[in-house]
Amino acid sequence: MSHILILPGDGIGPEIVQEAVRVLRAAEQRFGLDISLDEAPVGGAAYDLHGDPLPESTLDKARAADAILFGSIGGPKWDTIERDKRPERGLLRLRSSLGLFANLRPAILFPQLADASSLKPEVVSGLDILIVRELTGGIYFGQPRGIREENGERVGFNTDVYSESEMRRIAKVAFELAGQRNNKVCSVDKANVLEVTELWKEVVTDAAKDYPNIELSHMYVDNAAMQLVRAPKQFDVIVTGNLFGDILSDEAAMLTGSIGMLPSASLDENRKGLYEPCHGSAPDIAGQGIANPLATIMSLAMLMRYSLERGDVADAIQAAVEQVLDQGLRTADIYTEGTRKVSTEEMGAAVAEALARG
Ligand code: NAD
Ligand code: IPM
Ligand code: MN
Repeated sequence: MSHILILPGDGIGPEIVQEAVRVLRAAEQRFGLDISLDEAPVGGAAYDLHGDPLPESTLDKARAADAILFGSIGGPKWDTIERDKRPERGLLRLRSSLGLFANLRPAILFPQLADASSLKPEVVSGLDILIVRELTGGIYFGQPRGIREENGERVGFNTDVYSESEMRRIAKVAFELAGQRNNKVCSVDKANVLEVTELWKEVVTDAAKDYPNIELSHMYVDNAAMQLVRAPKQFDVIVTGNLFGDILSDEAAMLTGSIGMLPSASLDENRKGLYEPCHGSAPDIAGQGIANPLATIMSLAMLMRYSLERGDVADAIQAAVEQVLDQGLRTADIYTEGTRKVSTEEMGAAVAEALARG
């Protein structure tokens, strides 16, 4: 039996996770999966209940689970509370405590959504790139950090830091995954200015020696941001640090039509993982039943592929998503003229039905 922990979180988190669970139930039925589900509070919801965005009981359940399906956390309600208690810190602690250093963010444009992208169809058609983001290091976790008094004013500071071993292990993940795709890795850095990424470039170049079939290139992050909207199909796998990966993956999301289309997997050394959409809790649309659940549903597909080693189930979920897009169903964020606008729940139910039908 596989144990899956559901962490709905805040804002649209519970709404989209509910639809992913609906799809999971359909997958269980069709494939006769043996799955036990548990749920726990995280983020602002957990702070409200327990005064902690990652209560010990939630972390214990996360450690015991085979895989975690995560919604999203955060919102204006908690933006001004003590920094260590904020929802985002709960998510960061969860990633760090579980050693989830490898964050895979695939940006794939479904042909049905070519018109929903803000870029011209010819620029994005057939797009299939994978951003490999280092997730437990860099400026997100570096010490020292804080806000201090200096010369009568406040000074904010953070530290961007990566050890060679941290750089090497994420580079290896990128090379391995590129080997299953188009054998190209572009390492994104700011080596012309930041020592930490100068070393990154050196270590990634050295790590590439074990992967002679992989074509490695390097790009500065400012250029990469530009190239992603100029000619995104030049990329296969992009490997980069925590902060650059965060920013570039939101940018890549828009190439696929909407941030609501970008799933992710965060894996440890043993491919135990946490699966979540790349977007946040979308406070501006929370509670309206209009959020796009597909990023979360496709995160479930990644869970099946990586943690449960059920590539067949993952493929079936992806096919169900495509079927529903073929039927013309669209949530508001991917709606274009001539398609049918549906709610979060209608979208989830349609994918679950398509999956059940096979
Ligand atoms: P966001 O991703 O929540 O929203 C950005 C924009 O995208 C909004 O207009 C939102 O309505 C839209 N959007 C996002 N997901 C959508 C979906 N599934 N369907 C349709 N539209 C969608 O980013 P933000 O507004 O910068 O952040 C809001 C909160 O979420 C903050 O508290 C932030 O810290 C948090 N956040 C959490 C995560 C996470 O849980 N992993 C990720 C990013 C941001
Ligand atoms: C993401 C989010 C998080 C991050 C925040 C909420 C901590 O933006 O998952 O992309 O910056 O990693
Ligand atoms: Mn982000």
